[in-house]
Amino acid sequence: MINIILCGGNGTRLWPISRTLMPKQFVKLFDDKSLFQLTVQRNSKICDSQFIVSNAQQYFLASDQLQELKKSNNKYLLEPLGRNTAPAIALACMALDSEDIVLVTPSDHLIKNESEYDKVTKEAKILAQSGNLVTFGIKPSFAQTGFGYIEANGNDVKAFHEKPDFSTASKYLGAGNYYWNSGMFCFKAGVFLDELKKHSPQIYEASKRALQNAKIQNLIRIDYDDMLAIPEDSIDYAVMEKSSKVKVVPSDIDWSDVGSFDALYEELPKDENGNTINKNYVQIDSKNNLIYGNERKIATVDIEDLIIVDTGDALLISKKGASQKVKEIVQKVRGDS
Ligand code: GDD
Ligand code: MG
Repeated sequence: MINIILCGGNGTRLWPISRTLMPKQFVKLFDDKSLFQLTVQRNSKICDSQFIVSNAQQYFLASDQLQELKKSNNKYLLEPLGRNTAPAIALACMALDSEDIVLVTPSDHLIKNESEYDKVTKEAKILAQSGNLVTFGIKPSFAQTGFGYIEANGNDVKAFHEKPDFSTASKYLGAGNYYWNSGMFCFKAGVFLDELKKHSPQIYEASKRALQNAKIQNLIRIDYDDMLAIPEDSIDYAVMEKSSKVKVVPSDIDWSDVGSFDALYEELPKDENGNTINKNYVQIDSKNNLIYGNERKIATVDIEDLIIVDTGDALLISKKGASQKVKEIVQKVRGDS
């Protein structure tokens, strides 16, 4: 099995930790390892090789971090710009053998139950071998509107609903047979490409042209104009919502997409006052705060439930519970709005 690792995202909801040139998947957030490195470590136990699909700007970040893990012989596909996940996965699959089984994973998620993860990926591989597009379903714990939902009956999928509105998500939460789509997939490269051709033929054709023009060695570079010519879409809308070959493996793997500071707070180690552990932090009567910063001292008096993120050139202060709005503040900081 080949692990296609998607690392083209910007992760703006974790600004100012996550930047265009240092997106969150490469930041060493946990035990001096990045989420990208944790992904590689986790998946190299079950996969034979890594195939990194990233923005060309992030090539050195990815290759340096792989070298730190002593992983050699990696394959890369470099995009000059992002066109979302459907083109990224299509290009990678087109560069492989159609019988190759791939495990497509984001590079910025945390999975804490690795023994269960090994089990569900094995189950997925068997379903992929018989020609299915396999998704990994997480039992939802709240009405999250930023995820895809899988309506299931055992391993069968009745429907795939990408990013529902809040009232629909609340109904799904109560129903019992809906799972969050974790954003990981397992399939034969050729089966995915057949389904893409059927349901989103323009992405298929434009990706094919782009790959024909690219230089193919261990490092595949896609031309800018060819990439721009591929319609932008996610795998979820382009294929998963439309295909009848989708299966789900319910996965109790202690998963988080670390999509916001609130989610990050839950995952970081904390002291007895509920403040995240940081050697530069001193406090009086302060509790339940996320404190991030490696350079200056950070001192707080009598505050609680705050997010304080200090980097060399920017300081973010937000209330806990409001960190989804960080994406909006980034637009303001950049002067976009
Ligand atoms: N190479 C590459 N190129 N990678 C990309 C691109 C791109 O153009 N766009 C996104 N990615 C990577 C991101 O870095 C991330 O690791 C992964 O693909 C998924 O993209 P997101 O942008 O994070 O997707 P999402 O969060 O909106 O939704 C997906 O994930 C949810 C779970 O976290 C969907 O699959 C949902 O259905 C799912 O619930
Ligand atoms: Mg995401």
